[in-house]
Amino acid sequence: MLIKHDLSDRRFDGIGFEDFAHMANDQSLSPNEKIGFPDRYRDGFVDAIYADLCVKLPALTRSGVTIADVGPGCSELPRRFHDRALHLDQRLIWIDSAPMLAQLPDQGVEKLAARFPEGCIDWCSRHAGMLDVLIAYSVLQYVFAEGNIWAFLDQALSLLAPGGAMLLGDIPNVSKRKRFLSTVAGETFHRAFMGVDEPPQVHYSVPEPGLIDDAVLLGLVARARAAGFDAYLMPQPPTLPMANRREDLLITHP
Ligand SMILES: C[S@@+](CC[C@H](N)C(=O)[O-])C[C@H]1O[C@@H](n2cnc3c(N)ncnc32)[C@H](O)[C@@H]1O
Repeated sequence: MLIKHDLSDRRFDGIGFEDFAHMANDQSLSPNEKIGFPDRYRDGFVDAIYADLCVKLPALTRSGVTIADVGPGCSELPRRFHDRALHLDQRLIWIDSAPMLAQLPDQGVEKLAARFPEGCIDWCSRHAGMLDVLIAYSVLQYVFAEGNIWAFLDQALSLLAPGGAMLLGDIPNVSKRKRFLSTVAGETFHRAFMGVDEPPQVHYSVPEPGLIDDAVLLGLVARARAAGFDAYLMPQPPTLPMANRREDLLITHP
């Protein structure tokens, strides 16, 4: 299933879980490229990303909590989680493909080589209601394109402890992107970012196969709420590289 990357860089179009596993082993790629990002989308941004995560998920700053990072990839962000987990004596669990996990440190972390949720149903049963934090950052778009987001959400909800919180973060929303590109600011951004003189082509009322839109995100909010959780769509701070076209879904266990 095709995933279109947000704007100009087409190298990472159409990638999925198995492609990430192969990219993890490709020594010609930088750590950012192994997770599908051109370096300019991540270099220098991890402090701002992590700071935003700590605002949305305050338990990340607490000692002794249990955190699952689904789809950690192998760039600087999971290493930041790891540093903090060691410092704060947190239990950190990484769930991703074996080749991707092999790029990350082994000490002081649990690694589960599996595609979530279908590859780790037994682990999920054993950890039902046990997580203080579940994070899947820049992952849901791949699940949407090649998996089942409803199964992903339902299983993730089952893992949260009372008082726990989950962030399905950094989700490209094609509706948000269209709203932005339909403004003067969006046109200016497009011209500068793409290095072109033409305005962006924005098409409404067309099918968008493989892309998450408002309806999908609002559906996830409604489903989480119906399951007894609080759920909110949240903006990213403008200091993040794709804040004009991405957003975060925060779900808390009351
Ligand atoms: C774009 S990268 C994001 C990495 C990291 N969260 C970050 O933001 O730096 C997506 C990662 O999610 C992993 N992934 C995709 N679908 C997954 C699934 N269903 N279960 C576990 N990992 C998954 C991929 O292997 C890849 O490492």
